[in-house]
Amino acid sequence: MAHVVSLFRYPIKGFEGERLDCVPLEYGKGFPGDRAVAITRSGTAAGAAPYQQLTTNPALVHFLPGKSLGAATLHERQPVPRGDLLTDPELLAEFFGAQSRVVHRNDCLGHWDFDDSALSIINVRTVQALSTLMGVTIDPMRFRGNIYIDAEPFSEFGWLGKGVDFGQSRLSIIRPIKRCRATSVNPQTGEVDMNIPAQLNRHFGHMYCGVYAQVEQAGSLQSGDRISSTQAHYGERLAIAAKVPRAPALTTWPRPAEVVEIVEEAPGIRSVWLRDPLAMLGSLDSFVAGQHVAVHHLTTDGTWRRYTVSGIEDDRLRITVKQGSGAGSQAIHALKTGQWLHLTGPSGPVTFGLDAPANLFITAGIGITPTITKLTALVQARYPHPVRVVHTVKCSDDLALWDEVTKLVGQLSQGAIALHVTEGNSEIEGAINYRPDISALVTDAAERGAAIHVCGPEGFQGQIKNSVVQADAVDRLHMDSFATPDSPVEMRKIPECGPFQVTFSRSGVTASWQPTDGTLLSFAEAKGMVLPAHCRAGICQTCECAVLDGKIIPLIDAGSAKSGYALMCASVPGTDISIDC
Ligand code: FES
Repeated sequence: MAHVVSLFRYPIKGFEGERLDCVPLEYGKGFPGDRAVAITRSGTAAGAAPYQQLTTNPALVHFLPGKSLGAATLHERQPVPRGDLLTDPELLAEFFGAQSRVVHRNDCLGHWDFDDSALSIINVRTVQALSTLMGVTIDPMRFRGNIYIDAEPFSEFGWLGKGVDFGQSRLSIIRPIKRCRATSVNPQTGEVDMNIPAQLNRHFGHMYCGVYAQVEQAGSLQSGDRISSTQAHYGERLAIAAKVPRAPALTTWPRPAEVVEIVEEAPGIRSVWLRDPLAMLGSLDSFVAGQHVAVHHLTTDGTWRRYTVSGIEDDRLRITVKQGSGAGSQAIHALKTGQWLHLTGPSGPVTFGLDAPANLFITAGIGITPTITKLTALVQARYPHPVRVVHTVKCSDDLALWDEVTKLVGQLSQGAIALHVTEGNSEIEGAINYRPDISALVTDAAERGAAIHVCGPEGFQGQIKNSVVQADAVDRLHMDSFATPDSPVEMRKIPECGPFQVTFSRSGVTASWQPTDGTLLSFAEAKGMVLPAHCRAGICQTCECAVLDGKIIPLIDAGSAKSGYALMCASVPGTDISIDC
């Protein structure tokens, strides 16, 4: 049974917390005394966090908050405290700068980063799931929660927008908490000893841990209180939470999506329609044809996968998944209507535009999925130029969504379509029983200046990529991959070279790299950076960054990244380099 494990408040924002046995909760308020005091930062730039916090100053762990005559105090831990920083301006200035001030807030709303949230909930079993995947112990106190709970891993994300009873009180869950660098600071030592946002991104496919809540029904709260989700909905709270200044983009929120329809497209291939509860707030409005969604927490250890959106209408979207041996596709194929998934997106590079003088789609197997939304966009725009779809399957049992593709192409003024079935006799009318001539297709498309869209199994994509490189049309190539995190791709061994100076220009980080630091992605993450990286295997291209100066050594075939760019997950420096990230 889900229950409350412990309760904490942080009397001085950014500093050590204090355990509480019992907390009286009031409607719309946070814990009494939580973050009631804050120390402003000297010379804070506009838009930056105005208070001392671990994100910007890990040394805060070296100070000890306390209490004297009911008032908060703050002392150095070592060697011998010289006085209370909160009441001694000279001491405060010595540690935090001459312009620092102590500010108080006594309304039980505390100095939080957002106006609408004064309570945070951390599920210790979600933290445990991350610990297990990382192979280290993560202290849940890194997440500076108020209410620590023991519940099914990730179940807290499923409560978004709902009322949840905590003992006698009821809370509405208003927004997931996107984690920042503060969680990378060891609360005991003050060292930045692990990159929690990057690890969340790697293992769960998003950077959220915990949820914000509001008190809807007052009551006292204590450790051991039972937690139960209710049928109460708080849509108006979500609407405010989505728009509050600095709230992360809705598309990045892990949110519960209901399976509203399942269509068996072919043996072992099914489409799943998901209703997005945030669609009414605009989560699907920014969708661009060819983008993906990610589905998260498919298993209790956090398995997540990205799938191309194969259809979108109103508040629902469709993914189409071929059953394989992987945990992700197995979980999708075990779903039933009425069940719930956790969803983020749509997101991903924009691989589609209407300005090309022609479009060629070369796809294979389940790689047909991104073609649907791209063709739909072309039809809706009354695209006047040639569009050619060349699709290959082994046998008719592998054919999914073909009727939709045929219908869409039929609505284009210059649409052409070809289906190649490579094994057995196909009973499909018009099907061609041999493989397409990829080289001829690509050469023709290159001469027309066509955009070339490719999606299919890795070997198929590699073959087309080679033809595109030979035709000197890499800049018009749009690869849609369905790589999973850490897909098993053969990478070359990191050569014995270096050390080299690596500068990440936008982050202002320069550090010395050597082969044991691994790929540029691993190196950047070890330096505290968080880069978008979906597959970490050189396939999806989300980690691509411009190389401003110097040379990289790619660990997979040249031509995988655009000229002048590096796939951070599959490259190492070959000289001192500067990278635009
Ligand atoms: S993360 Fe996918 S190519 Fe690097």
